[in-house]
Amino acid sequence: MALHWIMAALIVWNLASMMLTPQAWARTLLPTHMAVGLTVLLLSLVRLLWRLTHRWPPLPATIPLWERRLARGSHALFYVLMLAVPLSGWLMVSASSGRAVNWFGVASIPPLPVASSRYAVAAFYEMHEIGATLMAGLLLLHVAGALRHSLPDGGTPLLLRMLPRRSAYQKKS
Ligand code: HEM
Ligand code: HEM
Repeated sequence: MALHWIMAALIVWNLASMMLTPQAWARTLLPTHMAVGLTVLLLSLVRLLWRLTHRWPPLPATIPLWERRLARGSHALFYVLMLAVPLSGWLMVSASSGRAVNWFGVASIPPLPVASSRYAVAAFYEMHEIGATLMAGLLLLHVAGALRHSLPDGGTPLLLRMLPRRSAYQKKS
């Protein structure tokens, strides 16, 4: 749960700071964007490890099967994108400048060993942009799904399952 909410805040910040701000702001925010993105990459590895070693809490049977499948499919796609989007960003910067990324002024993250080429930069940029756009679309679907079930007459307050001290509800569902 902690990883989910911390990472959600970081990813939403990275998406919003690049997609919803004027270009001049986005440029100024780029160093923070890269540092936040590399943090997301590290946390994604920890989260993936957790996911592979802990059972996925089953979704309540009150939710129709097709919705449970859609939810699980989108969660799995999130895992792919949580790794692929920051990785493609890091590859893009490595192939472009070959410079280390400054991590909030406390560490210098070396570039990935990729050859510097215009074509590589363009390909990684496309991957980064398409991946991030997919992520933003998936986020809208995800939030709509969570809210649909959590609103007063939605039947299954999924949001409560993602808050601590709600184990009683978790056990019932
Ligand atoms: C959660 C992770 C990340 C998300 C959601 C994300 C999302 C985005 C988005 C939406 C854009 C705007 C794309 C466009 O021009 O339409 C962007 C641009 C960019 N990202 Fe990321 N990013 C992430 C991580 C990273 C990382 C780790 C790096 C590098 C270390 C990075 C480097 C860049 C750069 C350099 C640009 C600007 C490209 C340009 O317009 O010249 N990003 N990112
Ligand atoms: C980009 C940001 C987000 C990502 C990448 C993300 C990803 C995920 C993933 C992968 C899961 C499955 C559980 C896991 O393995 O961790 C999950 C569950 C969940 N998410 Fe998000 N999430 C994001 C933002 C949000 C937001 C903003 C909300 C609030 C409306 C939300 C509400 C939930 C809920 C309620 C569940 C639990 C579903 C269940 O009961 O099993 N998420 N999320």
